Amino acid sequence: MKEVKIETNLTVFDSLEELPKEIQLLMQEASKARDNAYAPYSNFSVGAAMLLDNQEIISGSNQENASYPSGLCAERTAIFYAGAKYPNAKILKMAIIAGSRDKQTTSPIPPCGACRQSISEYEVKQNHPIEIYFMGEVGKVVKSKSLANLLPLVFDKSVL
Ligand code: THU
Repeated sequence: MKEVKIETNLTVFDSLEELPKEIQLLMQEASKARDNAYAPYSNFSVGAAMLLDNQEIISGSNQENASYPSGLCAERTAIFYAGAKYPNAKILKMAIIAGSRDKQTTSPIPPCGACRQSISEYEVKQNHPIEIYFMGEVGKVVKSKSLANLLPLVFDKSVL
């Protein structure tokens, strides 16, 4: 037997102001989308915005449901919409901002496992990395150069 060590690389910025203007603007779009979150059950609202290679920005927010599993996360709301509207465009960057309505969220909130799997599908499909930036309502911002960085041992079409 042998032990396998998996490592990943992330960059942590102390604040959004440390990032290029383009990313600040994308995060602002994510924040605007977050204002439209429908999260009456969790009181946790999330916004995501993506820059496509056709220069369009597509955003989304979490949409909950009285039948809890029928709701959808912000990242998947956004990425499925991008796939539906611009099926041939590449997704270059995604910004995610999240937080509770009950208390201020100061730590970066990464996309959940199901969203990582969904984003991965598009990264594999387009054969081009998707840069991911995520944060809480304030404070540090984490950058991942690709979704693959956030999802080791990915399940993708190569095994089917
Ligand atoms: N949520 C997202 O929108 N994205 C994630 O990556 C994690 C969780 C939403 C789902 C649900 O509406 C609320 O946050 C609490 O889980």
